[in-house]
Amino acid sequence: MNAYIFDNKSEEREFRRLQLVEAANDPTTIALLEKTGIQPGWHCLEVGAGAGSILRWLGHRTGPSGLAVGVDKNTTYLQDFTSTPFQIYKNTLLEVELPQPFDLIHGRYILIHNQSDLAILHKMFSLLKPGGWALFEEPDFTSATLMDQDSGTSQACVNRAICQMFVNAGLDPAYAFGLPKKLEQAGFHLERAPSIMHLCPGKSPMANVMGESALVLEQEYCQTGLCSPQDIHEYVRLSQDSTHWALYHSTTSVIVHKPST
Ligand SMILES: C[S@@+](CC[C@H](N)C(=O)[O-])C[C@H]1O[C@@H](n2cnc3c(N)ncnc32)[C@H](O)[C@@H]1O
Repeated sequence: MNAYIFDNKSEEREFRRLQLVEAANDPTTIALLEKTGIQPGWHCLEVGAGAGSILRWLGHRTGPSGLAVGVDKNTTYLQDFTSTPFQIYKNTLLEVELPQPFDLIHGRYILIHNQSDLAILHKMFSLLKPGGWALFEEPDFTSATLMDQDSGTSQACVNRAICQMFVNAGLDPAYAFGLPKKLEQAGFHLERAPSIMHLCPGKSPMANVMGESALVLEQEYCQTGLCSPQDIHEYVRLSQDSTHWALYHSTTSVIVHKPST
């Protein structure tokens, strides 16, 4: 299994970054999860639960008669989920043994980090009840380069470095583009696949995520040879300038179900 790019970062810093990810994405995720018709009593699985906000929401909606299972290889930020309907598993999805099939599975920004994405998709398919629902949300970082008319700006250099970092790790920076096809090939039936372009001003929730990620991953971005520490400094400064608009990346959210027969 490949290493996760945020492994070995300070716990406090990573917790803050995950909370920024949640603040930027949860409203869209929750609106889409509502479309699955989630009911009290459902068994739900949150893959790569991170700092736990969507797991908490799933547990709230499914209630004490249901189940909200969180799996993450790093459960440092999931220590509070000790009561019904929550169950936490510290493991990778491919290695964990889960006792029951699920009515609903959600995963956000997980597959792009895993070379074994196809095996993960097949496991999630097998974990879903016939007729069950899933929502998979993944990014495309090449979208950010669409706005880089001048390739010499710091923002353009950092955008290219982000893409190259994924390529160097054997991963696909444009992961979202191939996701619908991979889901179909794994056996899922696609319902909808809306995409959001994160075109936002500085200090917006997504600009905050990308600015913080650039600070945490400065070394990894610079090691690509495509940007310098000065470029990172300027990228972070612009992420906090509310008069500066930038295209940070796009996210595609695919709602699928498992055929009943
Ligand atoms: C970018 S974070 C996203 C967290 C959360 N899904 C969110 O969007 O707020 C990715 C999370 O997935 C976890 N992760 C990545 N690959 C995993 C795998 N194969 N099995 C379990 N957890 C994984 C990481 O530890 C991390 O907590």
